[in-house]
Amino acid sequence: MNERKVIVPGGAGYIGSHTIVELHKSGFTPIIIDNLCNSSEKNIKGISEIIGKDIKWHNVDCTNQKAIDNIFELEDNIEGIIHFAAYKSVEESVQNPKKYYDNNIGSLEVILNSMKKYKVNNIIFSSSCTVYGIPDILPVTENASFKKAESPYAETKQICEKILIENNFSSVSLRYFNPIGSHSSSLIGDYSDDKASNLIPIITETAIGNREKVTVFGNDYNTSDGTCIRDYIHVLDLAKSHVKSMDFLIKNAGKHAFNIGTGIGVSVLQAIRIFEKSNNIKVNYSIGPRRIGDIEQIYANSNLAKVKLNWEAKETIEQAMISAWEWEKKK
Ligand code: NAD
Ligand code: WQD
Repeated sequence: MNERKVIVPGGAGYIGSHTIVELHKSGFTPIIIDNLCNSSEKNIKGISEIIGKDIKWHNVDCTNQKAIDNIFELEDNIEGIIHFAAYKSVEESVQNPKKYYDNNIGSLEVILNSMKKYKVNNIIFSSSCTVYGIPDILPVTENASFKKAESPYAETKQICEKILIENNFSSVSLRYFNPIGSHSSSLIGDYSDDKASNLIPIITETAIGNREKVTVFGNDYNTSDGTCIRDYIHVLDLAKSHVKSMDFLIKNAGKHAFNIGTGIGVSVLQAIRIFEKSNNIKVNYSIGPRRIGDIEQIYANSNLAKVKLNWEAKETIEQAMISAWEWEKKK
């Protein structure tokens, strides 16, 4: 039987490493391209330990056209691409937009050029719920219009989705909501360079004693307890959505976009309480001012993914919080 090769730029990262494990489980042969600019070789080792064999990977910058062409030249019969490689810090993108435009848009363009040259037709792209800006209707559906981007990071995701629409490839844009948690082995996870700015890592760093407290960014929003609402999705569920998307894309040429969320809105204070209860540990917090650029609430309608991909979130937020704490203790 032919190998089902999938090239995975950014596959050594947080979401990528979990996806590699799921691809392997489902009979694909994933090949990672990653320059480790925001991850660690420990994830490559962790993947190999979980799947029980070495994983093929290339330490290459995805904005280097010649180097990417060489990899496509080396690997024949590629079924598709799952493109994770991008920078992801919203805050840094505001300080240095060019860095984000160059890498996030540049890497996609290079991959598409190689796809064209080597006749690979299928690509799954890591998009984000930030493409919606401030949504008019909740839960948000895929046909909601793209509002003004809240950051250069969000803008790169909007532009990349448009590039995919304007090209001839078959594509799935997966609009992730808020990924959290880790593989139960704690052998793979988020090795981001930057200081944590997302809520769950800040909670775990506080619980372990590396931070004095969590500052809750505002409690005067128009929500049940006054704090912002998000849709926190276990990274394992997220990883599985890529495998379903690759199977779907092979059978359904065209352009597709799916929300990948749980559909459940959780407030900041609820998230802290769920973490405390799931792990039987107290987390020190206080209420602070609003964070500039925060959206009051956003959560997904993921019915389209359920109908078309036969995918839905299965893990509970409690399981995600337990695995996030395990990762903090072990990483
Ligand atoms: P991550 O930083 O852990 O993974 C990205 C990987 O890409 C890293 O391993 C990094 O080293 C690699 N990379 C970046 N630029 C590269 C380049 N030019 N060449 C080669 N490798 C490069 O981030 P993640 O959380 O796993 O996110 C994966 C994707 O999902 C990103 O596109 C991100 O924007 C998107 N996304 C993430 C979230 C989130 O909250 N984590 C939410 C929505 C969308
Ligand atoms: C969640 C909630 C904060 C930290 C960002 C990106 C998005 C996506 C995921 C990549 C918010 C509150 C947070 C803290 C707090 N990434 N909070 N105190 O802002 O929804 O989304 O990450 O694509 O693009 O924008 O996630 O985890 O930063 O915040 O009160 O110390 O927690 O206000 O309501 P966010 P987050």
